[in-house]
Amino acid sequence: QPIFLKDYQEPHHWVRDVHLTFLLAPTATRVRSRITFVPNPQNPGDLELNGEDLRLLSVAVNGNDVPYEVTDTGLTIPAHALGEGDITFEAEVEIAPQENTALEGLYMSNGMYCTQCEAEGFRKITYYPDRPDVMGVFTVRIESDLPVLLSNGNPTQKGAGWAEWHDPWPKPAYLFALVAGDLVNHADTFTTKSGKAVDLNIWVRPGDEDKCAFGMEALKKSMTWDEDVYGREYDLDIFNIVAVDDFNMGAMENKGLNIFNSSCVLASPETSTDANFERIEGIIAHEYFHNWTGNRITCRDWFQLCLKEGLTVYRDQMFSGDMRSHPVKRIEEVLALRARQFREDNGPLAHPVRPESFVEINNFYTATVYEKGAEVIGMLRRVVGDEAYYKALDLYFDRHDGEAATIEDWLKVFEDTTGRDLAQFKQWYSQSGTPRLSVEETWDDGALTLFFSQETPATPSQTEKKPQVIPITVGLIGPNGDEVVPTTVLEMTEAEQSFTFENLGARPVASILRDFSAPVILNRHIDAPTRAFLLAHDTDPFQKWEMGRMLARDTLVAMIVDGTPPAATYLDAIRDVVVDDDLDPAFRALVLGLPSEDDIAQKLVDEGHTPDPQAIHDNRNELRRIRTDHLADILPALFDSMKTGAFVPDAEGSGKRSLRLAVLSMLTLIDGGAAARAAFAAADNMTEQAGSLRSLLLADMGQDALVAFEKQWKHDRLVMDKWFGMQVAYASPEKTAQIAQTLTQHPDFTMKNPNRFRAVFGALAGNHAGFHHESGAGYALLAKHLIELDKLNPQTAARMASAFETWRRYDPTRQDKMRAELARIGATKGLSRDMTEMVTRMLGDD
Ligand code: ARG
Ligand code: ZN
Repeated sequence: QPIFLKDYQEPHHWVRDVHLTFLLAPTATRVRSRITFVPNPQNPGDLELNGEDLRLLSVAVNGNDVPYEVTDTGLTIPAHALGEGDITFEAEVEIAPQENTALEGLYMSNGMYCTQCEAEGFRKITYYPDRPDVMGVFTVRIESDLPVLLSNGNPTQKGAGWAEWHDPWPKPAYLFALVAGDLVNHADTFTTKSGKAVDLNIWVRPGDEDKCAFGMEALKKSMTWDEDVYGREYDLDIFNIVAVDDFNMGAMENKGLNIFNSSCVLASPETSTDANFERIEGIIAHEYFHNWTGNRITCRDWFQLCLKEGLTVYRDQMFSGDMRSHPVKRIEEVLALRARQFREDNGPLAHPVRPESFVEINNFYTATVYEKGAEVIGMLRRVVGDEAYYKALDLYFDRHDGEAATIEDWLKVFEDTTGRDLAQFKQWYSQSGTPRLSVEETWDDGALTLFFSQETPATPSQTEKKPQVIPITVGLIGPNGDEVVPTTVLEMTEAEQSFTFENLGARPVASILRDFSAPVILNRHIDAPTRAFLLAHDTDPFQKWEMGRMLARDTLVAMIVDGTPPAATYLDAIRDVVVDDDLDPAFRALVLGLPSEDDIAQKLVDEGHTPDPQAIHDNRNELRRIRTDHLADILPALFDSMKTGAFVPDAEGSGKRSLRLAVLSMLTLIDGGAAARAAFAAADNMTEQAGSLRSLLLADMGQDALVAFEKQWKHDRLVMDKWFGMQVAYASPEKTAQIAQTLTQHPDFTMKNPNRFRAVFGALAGNHAGFHHESGAGYALLAKHLIELDKLNPQTAARMASAFETWRRYDPTRQDKMRAELARIGATKGLSRDMTEMVTRMLGDD
């Protein structure tokens, strides 16, 4: 029962306004609706409303009884019963938020009512055309004894036990939100450029109010940034954020009432790491930026999801770069893109940035739609230039404000501002798979020619691939280490294409794909000394880092494939970077990072080998030891010199701490754990506490620290998620599944909280050698718990099933085991639509 992009049709009716009244009760909430529908002359027909898990109590049209048909998925009133002109539809339904463990629609979390409607959750609240092209003006009345009652838009009236809200901006139902609870607020105000005063609140459970200040600052910075950079102001009198403990995703951009997973908004130095702070700042910005890219301009249908998500991710990435460091941010983005999106694109779940069909849309909130979607926007900007980019965006906001738009609309504003034909560029939205870009070079009498060829491997349901438009940024470094040609954008459009740089004195070294200008895999055969030369001299920080990474990757592959020991070229090059005090500590820490075991597995596959997870793990550890020996003399002093004073979660402090902790994990291999134990005992912030615990766990010396950590933090859910996760993530391969299994027996483990489930099972799936241990225990344990979770929360269960997406990479024994677990999940009675689709896609034609 997939639905297809090509089948899009306008609805039979549009909505003008919506009045909702909620009488809140945990197991019997009443929802009364009064909706004005306007017939669509373009597509006349029955009144079709979605609705699921609703107990229908009454229906009326224009005050009268009408014939209607109710199914498991909706309610239809035949056209002949609707009369002429506008329709006033009224209904009352009953729902049970307390029993809603799927966390979609209206549900309860720790005694508070909250909602999650994107993508298709509103239909679990009342009968409604639950599709993003239908937009209405919402007025909401909430009746409850709980002290804080919130919905979208501006507050209008309230009294004892009730409150009313009105949102003047027409919106699709997926942006509806309601919150009711015993909450306290961290309040502030913001005045927009045009002088409008806005009340800002972060609402939390009592006890968490001291964890809101950082999020509030991030919100104000986001508001200023969107005014300065995109000319976009906020458009209501109030902006509310609510922290919720049980939440399937990171956060949600409901109009004027953003709802956040508490892990993505609550922060304090004692309980949050630098990475948490950075992520919180980025997510607050992301949801805020959706107010324009998503809410004011929304999506015509869910196939266009990347229209709002790719653009909003791109915007939050630029914001974070401006707030912190662009080079460091870019390297982190590429690491995440390769780890999640390339992995997806190279397996059975590969799909285009704009999918052409789906069974369950929740399965398409993916790295491809979000992160590759953002990369496509970065390429578009690179191709048209900065000035044209902002001109096109102005036109986009101007032309489509208040509309539900498409990717065609988006590309058209670029075509209209630049006069370019973007037909070929548009393939980035329709063609799945990661292009392989190969390059060869020749040197001829002062001219350097780069020959590029591109090829995209076949992906499920797409065997023929066409050449993409690939912006390739290139710079040239002369033999003495000076840059002789600064960054130039080469625009590749053919399968094979060459570019020549002339009038060069001596033969330079090319730096290719600077700033990672396209989401491709670059195949380039250069020797280790040339890579080391670029690591030392490239002026582009991304490529400088990339050369260190390629050296490490090639070193590891050679160790694994034919036992070649690491060369001095690599070890010395790393040492030179690590001791270079002119370089940003954050950058040096990134250079010290080794490719993940999953990355190495994929690289081995690309080179025609079958990856052995245990061998990858052992060799990577061996390389850690060899590097540690090579750097041993400088580690203690470097560790001390990176100590920070009072904790400030900014780029500078976090950079120093990341280098300090990277050094600590090496020191722990040679000092018997002394430094890590001392750092753990002395830590006054979570970054140092968790970082030193990690070092101890990786060296299998973490038992005492784990006990102390639990004792200190057992009352803090978010910190305990770290405790659950770290012991699995850093466990040795043969123990990983057993530790995860034991943790499921811990009194604080629960399947009902997605953060806790992800802490254990996300860590299991992410521990490459542990998950893929030859016993198969990791596979079996995950499958068993996914089957259980699917009954409670299909969305989170289906997302986590992608742990199995790489099953075809491995040897026949592991393949059989993984395929058997997938088949076992697939054969489960009553399996959700979400999980069924995931399993079917992963098994493919097998
Ligand atoms: N729009 C939200 C965001 O990007 C994500 C909501 C996802 N919800 C879902 N059910 N898949 O921040
Ligand atoms: Zn988003």
